[in-house]
Amino acid sequence: CGIVGYAGARPALNIVLDGLRRLEYRGYDSAGVAIVDGGLFTAKRAGKLANLEKALQDEAGLSAGTTGIGHTRWATHGGPTDRNAHPHRSADGRVAVIHNGIIENFAKLRAELEASGIEFASDTDTECAAHLLAIELQTAVGDTPGARLAEAMRAVCRRLEGAFTLLAVDVQAPGVVVGARRNSPLVVGRGTGENYLASDVSAFIEHTREAVELGQDQVVLISADDIVITDFHGAAAEGRPFHIDWDASAAEKSGYEYFMLKEIAEQPHAVAETLLGRLNEHGDLMLDEVRLTDQDLRDVDKVFIVACGTAYHSGMVAKYAIEHWTRIPCEVELASEFRYRDPVLDRSTLVVAISQSGETMDTLMALRHAKEQKARVLAICNTNGSTIPRESDAVLYTHAGPEIAVASTKAFLTQLVACYLVGLHLAQVRGVKYADEVAAVVAQLQEMPGKVEQVLDMMEPIRLLARELAEAKSVLFIGRHVSYPVALEGALKLKELAYMHAEGFAAGELKHGPIALIDHGTPVVCVVPSPRGRGVLHDKVVSNIQEVRARGARTIVIAEEGDTAVAPYADHLFYVPVTPTLLAPLVTTVPLQVLACEIASARGHDVDQPRNLAKSVTVE
Ligand code: G6P
Repeated sequence: CGIVGYAGARPALNIVLDGLRRLEYRGYDSAGVAIVDGGLFTAKRAGKLANLEKALQDEAGLSAGTTGIGHTRWATHGGPTDRNAHPHRSADGRVAVIHNGIIENFAKLRAELEASGIEFASDTDTECAAHLLAIELQTAVGDTPGARLAEAMRAVCRRLEGAFTLLAVDVQAPGVVVGARRNSPLVVGRGTGENYLASDVSAFIEHTREAVELGQDQVVLISADDIVITDFHGAAAEGRPFHIDWDASAAEKSGYEYFMLKEIAEQPHAVAETLLGRLNEHGDLMLDEVRLTDQDLRDVDKVFIVACGTAYHSGMVAKYAIEHWTRIPCEVELASEFRYRDPVLDRSTLVVAISQSGETMDTLMALRHAKEQKARVLAICNTNGSTIPRESDAVLYTHAGPEIAVASTKAFLTQLVACYLVGLHLAQVRGVKYADEVAAVVAQLQEMPGKVEQVLDMMEPIRLLARELAEAKSVLFIGRHVSYPVALEGALKLKELAYMHAEGFAAGELKHGPIALIDHGTPVVCVVPSPRGRGVLHDKVVSNIQEVRARGARTIVIAEEGDTAVAPYADHLFYVPVTPTLLAPLVTTVPLQVLACEIASARGHDVDQPRNLAKSVTVE
């Protein structure tokens, strides 16, 4: 969920709504605001933020209060209805609360509150926090109404289990917003005569570049002139101040119809930026933050990659590269499965956590499990200062810039680059045979931005084909070796955006079952490896294409320029530039992104905000 709070001298409503617009990628099932203006003005609506804005337009005399909070929701407890939208108010109407996360002991708390006679107005876990806060406020001690609200918040937090960011306003504490965080992000924006709270900096970047990141289990009070941070027991605490260096325009559409189209187009730049300045004067590859010694990396005897969604697919590609270059066994696992199966980890295991947002709860929990088992953790992340890199032993940042569209594109390509760099770095530090190849591969990587650019220049035929495929019932994707994760990623994009049945398969596995899905005219997207280098791989995939075509499939083939052998079996053929096998996903993924985006757009869907999804999922 997206969370924003404001305390200052300007009317809060528009500032809060603007902030929510920038956070909508975090969820858009429903939205709501609460403004303190003598009374407590609240408004909330199911659906996208536009629904709330429309409802507010119809109201006369909108609240001019200068303290407010707002929320855009990705539903967990309780469906996405008006009544379950945040803010939630206490039974006495005194406080309004918004929340991101899951309060795990909510059933117990709710039963206790109901037994005391409180009637619930929603099905959410959040509402418990609102009622508890009002109860605690009755006895809270403090010099000012704001201090009492903060004290009551601390008392509530001590009773909550699970993950949460909470913001609250109290009608008796005008000018103050109080926030709390455990396992869920919250940052303060430090303005002049005004301050902000938000789940991430994009909410207030228009107003200030100075931010303070809250630590775990902290409560913060903001007013126009003050920021006071404590732990859950009231002891003074410090946040981590940082300066936001990306500019606000990076989060604008800049003339593109969708953020996703803009982000696809930004990929050459994102790849180049992620490669920039990685070699020192001795030709050694460098990570951004390393709290490990080279000896620690030399001791690694096993690599586990954990990630979710698109990031997981980048991890699957990494496995091929890391094992090839370092000769260390490498496994890739969905972060949500990792800790529950009791994986074998120890001090010499390196766990690589890949996450665009750095906040994905499944990945964070996998990381924490790894650390408990004494494994070393390296994060690959796009968001500076987010939780996952902060809790890791080493970090390599991807420089994709802010990614707004829910379906990941440029972050994926930069994750691939980061994975290659990690593989090369390990090979170099350990001095294995392939260390000699490092310089050569780095040089090949430097050519990739140009190659991605070439692919983008050739996308018109894909767009035309997409319109023809918009009515298909199902689309299958096949690939081998590193093209197998590319096939999975192509299918995921289509599911996310077009709501179509789509599946990716290892091309060789098709004959063991999935080939039964092929019917007359079934579109099958085939990602073909380079015929050079590992030629066997190429020939095997060409055979697989013949197999599906013989059973009626309509084949859509992505192959390397000059690959004429595949042409007779392709109903539609798209070439990508000649690229070393391991690096090929950087070019072969791009047409699949464009295909999904165009099919979704032809089907009339909101490409940037697909139904049921959120970009950053901060619950397990
Ligand atoms: C969500 C998003 C996906 C994303 C995944 C992992 O499910 O909808 O697009 O790939 O989270 O996100 P992360 O921020 O950890 O890379």
